[in-house]
Amino acid sequence: MEHTLQELSLSLRAHYPYLYFLTWEEERATRGIQRVADELERPLMSWSVVQGLVGPKGPVQDTAEPEAALDHIQGLKKSTVVLLKDFHHYIERPTVQRRLRDMRRALVDSQSALVFVSPSAVIPAELEKDIVILELPLPGLKEVARLFHALLKGEGIELGLDLFEHFVKASLGLTEEEIKRVYSKVLLRSGSFTEDQLAEVIAEKSQIIRRSRFLEFHDLSTSMTDVGGLENLKVWLDARKNCFSEKARTYGLPQPRGLFLLGVQGCGKSLTAKAVADLWKVPLLRIDVGALVLGEAAAEEGLHRAIRIAESMAPVILWVDEIEKAFAGVSEGAGDSGSAARVFGNFITWLQEKKSPVFVVATGNDVRNLPPELLRKGRFDEIFWVDLPDIHERETIFGIHIQKANRNPADFDCWELAETAERFSGAEIEQAVVEAMFQAFAEDREVETLDILRAIRQTVPLARTMDQRIKELKEWARDRTRPATYDTRRIDFFRNWEAASAANEAD
Ligand SMILES: Nc1ncnc2c1ncn2[C@@H]1O[C@H](COP(=O)(O)OP(=O)(O)OP(=O)(O)O)[C@@H](O)[C@H]1O
Ligand SMILES: [Mg+2]
Repeated sequence: MEHTLQELSLSLRAHYPYLYFLTWEEERATRGIQRVADELERPLMSWSVVQGLVGPKGPVQDTAEPEAALDHIQGLKKSTVVLLKDFHHYIERPTVQRRLRDMRRALVDSQSALVFVSPSAVIPAELEKDIVILELPLPGLKEVARLFHALLKGEGIELGLDLFEHFVKASLGLTEEEIKRVYSKVLLRSGSFTEDQLAEVIAEKSQIIRRSRFLEFHDLSTSMTDVGGLENLKVWLDARKNCFSEKARTYGLPQPRGLFLLGVQGCGKSLTAKAVADLWKVPLLRIDVGALVLGEAAAEEGLHRAIRIAESMAPVILWVDEIEKAFAGVSEGAGDSGSAARVFGNFITWLQEKKSPVFVVATGNDVRNLPPELLRKGRFDEIFWVDLPDIHERETIFGIHIQKANRNPADFDCWELAETAERFSGAEIEQAVVEAMFQAFAEDREVETLDILRAIRQTVPLARTMDQRIKELKEWARDRTRPATYDTRRIDFFRNWEAASAANEAD
């Protein structure tokens, strides 16, 4: 917040007549603006449609109408800062726009400024050049720490430094009001702040974030051991494990930006996205881009808010699942002024320019209709191609899902299963294991390899029906992406070689 207030102070001193303060935290913004006005020794007036203009000496009569308020402001002789709440509802009225343009000179002469405080940026084209847009970020570490400290002091509660820090970090991504509410709820419920309440704060936060409709906060329940195969991708991810640390910056590593996982359905793209968060030990936010674009008018604000939340929680992973659902057929700048195009434009601009440690993992299984700008160099660090699992990967994936069914993989012939399940996806392998469990249970006996084999034979893998599409995609991916899987011919070679030398030794 300090940075934004400095900008505000600078703009006021430089006599910019119109400032637009973008925030959904009106109270916090008002406090900040008041502070800056005090520092500059300028009186602050504020306007809302309910109260009209209110100055240091009290309300000004008959100024509830925006036009009347502007007329009054135009007549001010003394340098004044005027805060206008929710003015985005009125700013597009012709009578308001005309006045705003006419009063520009008077404002500069009296060294006054209008500060619009509003959650969405509605700026008429005629005023675009004259308005400075400022954004109030969500409370950062320091601010939250101050808030929490004050609260603890008021309640006479002492807290260890570690726990204090955990609470502060867990509260990032929320507005000041939300943080206060979460804390008082926790206090009312349990009267203390311990590890248990930390979980409460995190649960509250995921509730609040979910309410923003476009974002979902995931807990870290998936780990890399749940993902079978994709070794190339895993090595790449593992090498970037501590990439957000101070140490990495000092060493001179650039901040990783993001990853695009392209590939066949049901082969572990979403699964991997979830597992990265656990591997890197950072929170995972999933953004529903489909809803974003369908949400039309609310979409731009929604994306904006989602990005701000992600940035305030950084380091964080922002998972954009099934990206083609949102941006298929959208093109930036092609004369298309539709909401989808604008949301897309905002998104890739942010992707390109972001400075904060927000790692974007985008997943998708069709690129044909995706705007080419999205995959251009510089947006993502790497594009991986996630293919159907090969035989070795299938063996591992069978093992994983047998284990998940609380059985010992060693009791099953995973190699034979892998051989039989040709062209199966990970999802289909999982399904075969589940199906076999049902069968055996119905017959009141323990599940065995044969049950799974039977389930495999009863399944027609999607890859067979979608053969042509997968081929086309693979063709596209060949020189544009990096394979997520090792070239298994090498593994086969070593296996054969090992078997041969074992046989030699036996001779
Ligand atoms: N490589 C894998 N290892 C273990 N399980 C897997 C693997 N791939 C898929 N699965 C199983 O299949 C389920 C579905 O996979 P996932 O959702 O990751 O597929 P996807 O690649 O995102 O597919 P889609 O393109 O349809 O979104 C997973 O939850 C997991 O149980
Ligand atoms: Mg998926």
